[in-house]
Amino acid sequence: MNKTELLYEGKAKKIWKTEDENLLISEFKDDLTAFNGEMKSSEAGKGALNNKISTELFKYLKENGIQTHFVEMLDDNNMLHKKCKVIPIEVIIRNIATGSLTRTLGIEDGKILPFTLVEFDYKNDELGDPKINDQHALILGLVKHQDELDKLRRVAREINDILKPYFFEKGLKLVDFKLEFGYDSNENIILIDELSPDNCRFWDVESGESMDKDRFRKGKGGLKVAYENVLNRILNK
Ligand code: C5P
Repeated sequence: MNKTELLYEGKAKKIWKTEDENLLISEFKDDLTAFNGEMKSSEAGKGALNNKISTELFKYLKENGIQTHFVEMLDDNNMLHKKCKVIPIEVIIRNIATGSLTRTLGIEDGKILPFTLVEFDYKNDELGDPKINDQHALILGLVKHQDELDKLRRVAREINDILKPYFFEKGLKLVDFKLEFGYDSNENIILIDELSPDNCRFWDVESGESMDKDRFRKGKGGLKVAYENVLNRILNK
């Protein structure tokens, strides 16, 4: 499958059309951004690591009954996937309080939440991805029916129930993560985008070290080594 035309360039990926109108190619970039583009950098090899990690996780989710847009990894930086109509909602799943939850609500960093929290952010760079509730999502027309919001929440929890023990067994706590969904050609809501240390927080069970993009957000360094470590744990190396 070949790239024909650049459809869209985002912060971490370029999306290409292919000869098949139902399939797209995501090209994972080495660029790093945080805080809605206020922090920018690049790390050679980061894109390939995220492509490989996402590939493994999409395959694992499929084996566990979750529908995703993933078709195949083409090469180091390129993933072939179904073309979907993107739902402009970022679904955030949290097991442990940190990041914006700690900043906005003053919940103690590292507190294990009494239950898994699922939040919706409106995917809109100009507005800074504000947090929204179901009524906002319906008023904005981000989905047509309440059922679809219920489905996003339900599938997000299912994915968390699959991935949390998977990572724990590999010595990583799945602290929180962001998912995106879209409608496939049959109007089914399926998981899209990527699943990588760019959009998940992982803490090492033993040391508590961040093994994800927080290394960049907090100016800690060692990002690539941490992403390689996550991939190696996934591959059981
Ligand atoms: O920043 P915050 O604490 O809200 O992030 C929660 C989770 O969602 C983190 O795992 C972060 O990597 C992810 N996220 C993301 N893209 C965003 C916002 C959050 O991947 N635009």
